[in-house]
Amino acid sequence: MYRWLDERLSLTRFNKKFLRKAFPVHHSFFLGEITMFAFITLVLTGIFLSFNYEPSTRIVKVAGRELPAAYASILYIDSLPFGAVLRSVHHWSANIMIAAAFLHLLRILVTGAYKKPREINWLIGLGLLGVAVVTAFTGYSLPFDAFSVTATQIGYGIGASMPYIGEWISKVIFGGEYPTMHSIPRVYSLHVLWFPLLLMALLGLHMLIMIKQKHTQPAYAKKVAPGKILGVPM
Ligand code: HEM
Repeated sequence: MYRWLDERLSLTRFNKKFLRKAFPVHHSFFLGEITMFAFITLVLTGIFLSFNYEPSTRIVKVAGRELPAAYASILYIDSLPFGAVLRSVHHWSANIMIAAAFLHLLRILVTGAYKKPREINWLIGLGLLGVAVVTAFTGYSLPFDAFSVTATQIGYGIGASMPYIGEWISKVIFGGEYPTMHSIPRVYSLHVLWFPLLLMALLGLHMLIMIKQKHTQPAYAKKVAPGKILGVPM
């Protein structure tokens, strides 16, 4: 089967070129991967959530109670088998992604891995962290319970307090002065489509540049194999 595919798709050549990239085994080099796998977990659990979440603030009646549809759909997700577990995994992966990205940034900073020729990847990394924080924040507002509306109102106020452009940016993101009936559909589209697409594009670029420039080497590797890249194949 492998030979059949190899003759048609040159898998061995691809494997030799890309999948044998030497990966340093120092634990601090895994912070970037923890960030990346947290993002992959967010996409997978997010797909499940998007099947069942309703991005609307129209009032629906559930068991005699009048609730916004968004919040009612969150209660519905929690009632599904493994629904609450998947919501928790989504929530904690978001926290882990931001924390790991920040620690990854510190690793790059203290080891000087941002220096020439890696300045462009440093800037792309900063962009990734910024978009990740905004994406997490937009996710916070979606449950539309008292906690999430209050937290989002505070965020809206912080954004709007920026001089000159703040109010305009906050209104564009939240579909007017939060909360309006346009806020949830607008924030939902940003959270599940546009911000993740931006993250994927930036992450793809981040990885391509990292593969092209190769990893920096931890101090012990420089001593063991000076001038060579030491590590295990990807
Ligand atoms: C937020 C999402 C991010 C993801 C998913 C991510 C992912 C990765 C991965 C998997 C690597 C290779 C493994 C490693 O060196 O740890 C890497 C390398 C790198 N990252 Fe990130 N990163 C992110 C954010 C950042 C940030 C915030 C910065 C700095 C501002 C940054 C700057 C760099 C640089 C300069 C390298 C090359 C390091 C070297 O060659 O030693 N990244 N990133």
